[in-house]
Amino acid sequence: MNSKTGLVLICLAAAAFAFAACERSAKSGHGLILPEGDIGQGKAAFVKLGCIQCHTVKSVGLPAFEGETTFMLELGGEVLKVKTYGDLVTSIINPDHVISPQYLSQLPTGSLAESPMTDLTREMTVSEMVDLVTFLHSRYIKKPRPDYRSFDLYP
Ligand code: HEC
Repeated sequence: MNSKTGLVLICLAAAAFAFAACERSAKSGHGLILPEGDIGQGKAAFVKLGCIQCHTVKSVGLPAFEGETTFMLELGGEVLKVKTYGDLVTSIINPDHVISPQYLSQLPTGSLAESPMTDLTREMTVSEMVDLVTFLHSRYIKKPRPDYRSFDLYP
């Protein structure tokens, strides 16, 4: 094999590798498009399904949970990157998949890391899930990036 063929082979191998890396996992959420949900129904489902046992939602008045609560995690509010519908669906129906950093920061370091979030997929209808996502999505606000020019770094 001369050096030219060798080079071509290396390039082909690199291209094949890059292509494989790009290929999406068959289980990815790519292609998922939810129908439009209803914010009011989503809020109602949030109370009905007992999400209020562990969550408050920024600037939304919700009834207090009647029963024991061990911790509270606020959803919504200002974030640098607004959660997509896909992020929210995953958090709701597959909570172990991504664990919120806000929650991890409350745990003693080193202890890990299953979501204590109850599996509600058997109690929840699909339309409740869609409404929940629409409701929660509406409560996230994109935080403006800090304007570094306003700091007088160079007097
Ligand atoms: C028993 C407590 C509990 C209940 C009930 C519960 N959650 Fe959670 N939830 C958590 C905890 C703890 C986390 C943080 C860990 C994680 O990301 O899974 C969380 C995370 C989330 C997140 C991701 C937050 C983020 O910043 O990434 C969403 C969205 C969410 N929950 C929605 C819901 C909805 C909707 C319901 C009701 C259908 C619900 N939760 C019920 C405990 C609970």
